[in-house]
Amino acid sequence: MQTHHRAVVAERFGDPAGALSVEVVPTPKHEEQDVLVRMRWAAVNPSDVLPIRGAYRSRTGLPFIPGFEGMGVIAEGQPGEGSRVIPIGLPGAWQEIRSVPRRWCIPVPGDVPDHAAATAFINPLSALLMTDSYALPGGTALINAGSSALSRLLAYLLRRKGMYVIGVGSSGNPHKTVWDDYKDPGLMSSGKARHSVDILFDCVGGIEGLELASAVRKGGAYVHYGLLSGMPSIRQLTDKRADVGVHLFKLRDVVHTASDHRIHELFDRSFDLIRQGMATRIAATRPLEDVVAAIILSVQRPTRGKVLLRV
Ligand SMILES: NC(=O)c1ccc[n+]([C@@H]2O[C@H](COP(=O)([O-])OP(=O)(O)OC[C@H]3O[C@@H](n4cnc5c(N)ncnc54)[C@H](OP(=O)(O)O)[C@@H]3O)[C@@H](O)[C@H]2O)c1
Repeated sequence: MQTHHRAVVAERFGDPAGALSVEVVPTPKHEEQDVLVRMRWAAVNPSDVLPIRGAYRSRTGLPFIPGFEGMGVIAEGQPGEGSRVIPIGLPGAWQEIRSVPRRWCIPVPGDVPDHAAATAFINPLSALLMTDSYALPGGTALINAGSSALSRLLAYLLRRKGMYVIGVGSSGNPHKTVWDDYKDPGLMSSGKARHSVDILFDCVGGIEGLELASAVRKGGAYVHYGLLSGMPSIRQLTDKRADVGVHLFKLRDVVHTASDHRIHELFDRSFDLIRQGMATRIAATRPLEDVVAAIILSVQRPTRGKVLLRV
């Protein structure tokens, strides 16, 4: 007998208020290689809102169920029933029941609370991977969107590797220093930053990314990992700063190519970050039906943490 469940569905691209509706959709049949997961909590991240607005039209088919991150339990009648898991690799977290390839269901350790598990994937794994690839002990890193959840984690990990870290910016004032542990405090505001930092981590792009790139020293690195401004900067950057190494980071590429062993090792480190008090702050929770209000809240108050959907 066909069963049904509630899901947030994007019927068209555009503003979430017009693009999204909560619908009753058919529950997928259980396939041998898959696991049916009853979702409990799903995060609202910038990477969820961009495809709804139509940023990746060429690779996003309509209609689709958004949500790249969340946690739930293995549904009734399956091996491991009731075990907590984090589904990864595909969108679809914003619904009650989803089908996930077994290898993409990460078990949640008993000492990791639900809310922490629901945000243990995207930002922690990105911060760990970028730190592993680019950290330069004794060097200086500049990070924009300094109040974001990811920049907080990235700064923590880079410091642990012995880097000095400067966090700048917000949507209101991209040059404002949010935190600064550089040996010369006030480096950014004094205008002395030109060609002085080793690595820029840019998740804004556009004019801000280009301007901040002038702070990177010759032979330094520009790591581009987000597009909060909605405007690209890489092409102009390679023209303007041919003396800087440009790197594009996409967690998706790693998740889709890494071995299961590597993914589990990264999650072990993410769970350790939670144990060290670095769980993502949760600002608010909202029921699935209030998805549009949850998105608005996530954009208005990001500095106070993430918004979770209660599925
Ligand atoms: N490449 C990858 O694989 C990957 C993985 C994870 C995350 N990311 C990216 O990392 C970024 C941060 O994610 P998050 O989850 O940490 O975000 P978040 O906690 O929701 O915070 C969003 C941040 O963006 C700032 N912001 C918003 N619009 C802006 C604009 N137009 N110009 C400058 N700043 C703006 C906000 O500043 P105010 O609060 O001051 O407005 C806030 O600091 C996003 O771009 C996300 O897509 C990329």
